[in-house]
Amino acid sequence: MRDNDATDIDPHRYCGFYTQAQIREVVAYAKARYVTIVPEIEMPGHSDAAVAAYPWLSCGGERIGVRETWGVSEHIYCPTDRTFTFLENVLTEVMTLFPSVYIHTGGDEVPKAEWERSSVVHQLMAREHLANYDAVQGYFDRRIEAFLRAHGRRMIGWDEILDGGVTQSATIMAWQNTERGIKAIRAGHPTVMSPDGLLYFDALQGDENDEPLGIGGLTTPQMVYGFVPPAGAIGIQGNLWTEYIPTPHQLFYMLLPRLMALADVAWSDERPRAWAAYAQRAGAQYAWLTRHGYPFRIPNPSFTLAADTAVSYANVSSSPRTVSALTSSAQVTVSINDDVPGATIRYTLDGSTPTATSPAYTAPFALQLDSAQAHDVMAVAVLPDGRISTPSALHVERR
Ligand code: ACM
Repeated sequence: MRDNDATDIDPHRYCGFYTQAQIREVVAYAKARYVTIVPEIEMPGHSDAAVAAYPWLSCGGERIGVRETWGVSEHIYCPTDRTFTFLENVLTEVMTLFPSVYIHTGGDEVPKAEWERSSVVHQLMAREHLANYDAVQGYFDRRIEAFLRAHGRRMIGWDEILDGGVTQSATIMAWQNTERGIKAIRAGHPTVMSPDGLLYFDALQGDENDEPLGIGGLTTPQMVYGFVPPAGAIGIQGNLWTEYIPTPHQLFYMLLPRLMALADVAWSDERPRAWAAYAQRAGAQYAWLTRHGYPFRIPNPSFTLAADTAVSYANVSSSPRTVSALTSSAQVTVSINDDVPGATIRYTLDGSTPTATSPAYTAPFALQLDSAQAHDVMAVAVLPDGRISTPSALHVERR
């Protein structure tokens, strides 16, 4: 089935490949910067390209067209000896090119419909005493893991590989949620945390009307910074899938500054985590990014309110992303906070979007709430080079 949305968004034709020489160059470039590239060869699902080229790799064996859009496919590898030989040959070539001890074998999002229809799979289940189709994936994963181990490498796979039973020496990358990671840790697996929703950097960083086209959701640097890896996790990872990333500029825009927050979570054991202290530390990093010409999303300012009585807050998901504050006090003091040292905060009090010439914020100010009238404060951060953040909005009301 064609996914019209995806082809509407991106009608471009993709093709090409890396030569072995180019891969060696990439690996060496990373190594010179103390980075190890872990290759991922997806199996048994997300394997449409291979199945389109060699239909006998799937249980149905039918010829399928080259996939034109992203998503999950029902066409998956069939667990035959011929398939395993193919994959072992691929992995042998991969191991020659990538010195990484870890080889990622995917394992996520595997619809089992083709296996359910396959007499080859049914025979395998009878022979190997596999009770269900997850167990067939377990057989698949264990066989590949043994092959990698025999070659001095270690398998790492997405957390679905837990479901079919995989050897404890396999490392789990927990993506579906944090609980899956905790389950993996309890089962004795080395586990890397990359939960969707918090550490997926393809999510938007602000209101969808202000942001480049993306997959949706909302993941702010504060949310990333607030992630507490479960005890026993060996590491964390941010995932930036590139379906919606047409240029290197946008790649960096999505990575930064969230990647900085991720690095801080990984490297420091600060407890409890304190955003204000982190934001202070991160300041120098923005100057570095600017100096070196890295595009980054300029964090929009945030608001802090002080009042005689409690203030309750709610997020209102309209554009711009608005924080709504309610209080019984007759007056509130508004502070506007900026995470980028050296930036000027510009603001308005009439609900209009601030520009580079709106009044500059210099100190907290008071809003009188004794009338029935609500107040709308909007703010942007303007960098010394004139770049301007998306707007933040605050709606204050006395109740
Ligand atoms: C994943 O996002 N399917 C790992």
